[in-house]
Amino acid sequence: MKKQRVLSGIQPSGQLHLGNYFGMMSRMIQYQGNNDLFCFIANYHALTTIPEKDNLSKNTFEAVCDFLALGLDPEKSTFWIQSDVPQVTELTWLLSNVTPMGLLDRATSYKDKIARGISANLGLFSYPVLMAADILLFNSELVPVGKDQKQHLEMTRDIAVRINNLFGDVLVVPEPDIEKTTMLVPGTDGQKMSKSYGNIIPIFDTEKKIRKTIMRIKTDTTPIEEPKDKDTPLFQLYSLFLNEDGIEDLTSRYDNPGLRYGDIKVELFESIMEHFSPFREKREYYISHPDHVKDILKIGAEKASTVADKTMATIKEAIGLKIDS
Ligand code: ADP
Ligand code: TRP
Repeated sequence: MKKQRVLSGIQPSGQLHLGNYFGMMSRMIQYQGNNDLFCFIANYHALTTIPEKDNLSKNTFEAVCDFLALGLDPEKSTFWIQSDVPQVTELTWLLSNVTPMGLLDRATSYKDKIARGISANLGLFSYPVLMAADILLFNSELVPVGKDQKQHLEMTRDIAVRINNLFGDVLVVPEPDIEKTTMLVPGTDGQKMSKSYGNIIPIFDTEKKIRKTIMRIKTDTTPIEEPKDKDTPLFQLYSLFLNEDGIEDLTSRYDNPGLRYGDIKVELFESIMEHFSPFREKREYYISHPDHVKDILKIGAEKASTVADKTMATIKEAIGLKIDS
């Protein structure tokens, strides 16, 4: 079977968390080998919300180390930092000219950010066009993301179709890849887990910090002898670490008297530590070998750049930016 081009990116806007892991990272890594995997750290996007230079570069480096530790293999994939392949900003400009204001006006993610007090600027407003360029520059066929990115993917498809209608079939129209069981991982407060909501459970932090965060997961005051609500963050989070039998067992514990939330929290904590412990040592290695990490990223950027240059040549020709010889 032909390998599919699978692409996704993540913003280095803070510590990576269980939502990022189940919604995107682990799924990307599963695609590796049987597909043509393209993965990048979206630091241009992060500029729209993190203006502090030191945080941005530290978070970017750590996000790279997280991916490498979790098993992203630079030999079997193309892995780079967005700003190392700046052709994406050139494509953003070309796409901007076919992107109606109305399309961007409807972006719920933009509206949410403004509602949270982030000041409106052109970068934030045109964020979805840069994201479309990320995807279209590399002829991506499949884009694994969480549910919150669904609308951005629809906008990307819309922009690609407009270009194709105007200039011939120059762009691949991508498909979103959203997995039902992991598309919306709840945070400790029950809202979507997000770096910007202060409700994350980090993948890699100290044992103490992770334990403390888990103990903060919001629960209700149902007495021990009564059945418990399963539509709650603790149940949903623990289920992510269980197989079908495990979920069935947990369901029956929730449905019957005697369950203590404190016990479930301890079990969840242990599952998290066990799940990620094989990756911790590898992460420490990368964190303490920045030169090795930089070498990996340099090769990744070169590989990505080669593909980007080809797409740019095709689209520039199609749009009329090249003078016929
Ligand atoms: P955040 O909201 O924490 O800033 P990003 O916007 O950088 O996260 O998301 C990176 C990837 O992780 C995207 O594909 C996004 O859909 C996915 N993701 C983020 N949070 C969650 C979540 N709570 N559940 C499922 N997927 C998520
Ligand atoms: N906007 C995405 C997010 O916040 C990150 C992202 C940027 C992305 N460019 C992308 C995801 C391209 C998939 C494909 O999660």
